[in-house]
Amino acid sequence: MRKAIIAGNWKMNKTPEEAAELVRALVPAVKGAACEVVVCVPSVCFDVVSKAAQGSNIHLGAQNVHFAKNGAYTGELSVEMLKACGVEYVIIGHSERRQYFGEMDATVNLRTLAAVAGGLIPIVCVGEKKEERESGYTDAIVQYQTLMALTGLTPEQVKGIVIAYEPVWAIGTGLTATDEQANETIGVIRKALQRHYGAAVADAVRIQYGGSMKPGNVKGLMAQPEIDGGLIGGASLNAPDFTAVVLFDR
Ligand code: PGA
Repeated sequence: MRKAIIAGNWKMNKTPEEAAELVRALVPAVKGAACEVVVCVPSVCFDVVSKAAQGSNIHLGAQNVHFAKNGAYTGELSVEMLKACGVEYVIIGHSERRQYFGEMDATVNLRTLAAVAGGLIPIVCVGEKKEERESGYTDAIVQYQTLMALTGLTPEQVKGIVIAYEPVWAIGTGLTATDEQANETIGVIRKALQRHYGAAVADAVRIQYGGSMKPGNVKGLMAQPEIDGGLIGGASLNAPDFTAVVLFDR
């Protein structure tokens, strides 16, 4: 049985003060949640969020990580730096990184390898664009992105990865994949994992859905057998909505 994982992706939102306020509201609200709870926050908020979440069931995540140990990479953060700030999870290959910052499958792979080697849990994002779905390429795209991201990991390491299936056309648009579409595409990803790494690995890997997941649709999505959680953007920015998503089973 896979434990569900709901992760907030705050993107470029919240000052440290606003972050602390949100986490202080979340701590009592999500206490006792059945799922794993993660907030992936801007790096300037690591400190206040880790303090505000201390002793709670809320885990700290980052939104990107560089693959080098250190060096001349202006603007980047290393695995070691994230870990020193209490970060446990890291989003890798988000479609906004791919779309606006030149992220490629090859660099998604390097980041994933570095995160795993350093003991961070990657949340690897994959997903097709609108025109790719309309042309019938969804399955090919998500399988390719997934297998490329994981190249070089051992089957045992793959077991610990989280994958987020995020159809690009559903992110921040208010459009959501139907429960069945999300379940079907996540099933395609799981089958690819099964072919490459075996059934035990495919059964262990948690695959989230992301793209306008919110209080009104979380129950239906989470009722699907292949969907093991959510990566939540807009609805993670306020305590009532994120709490309702986290407590989807109540
Ligand atoms: P959204 O973002 O929930 O605002 O669509 C999801 C994401 O980009 O991870």
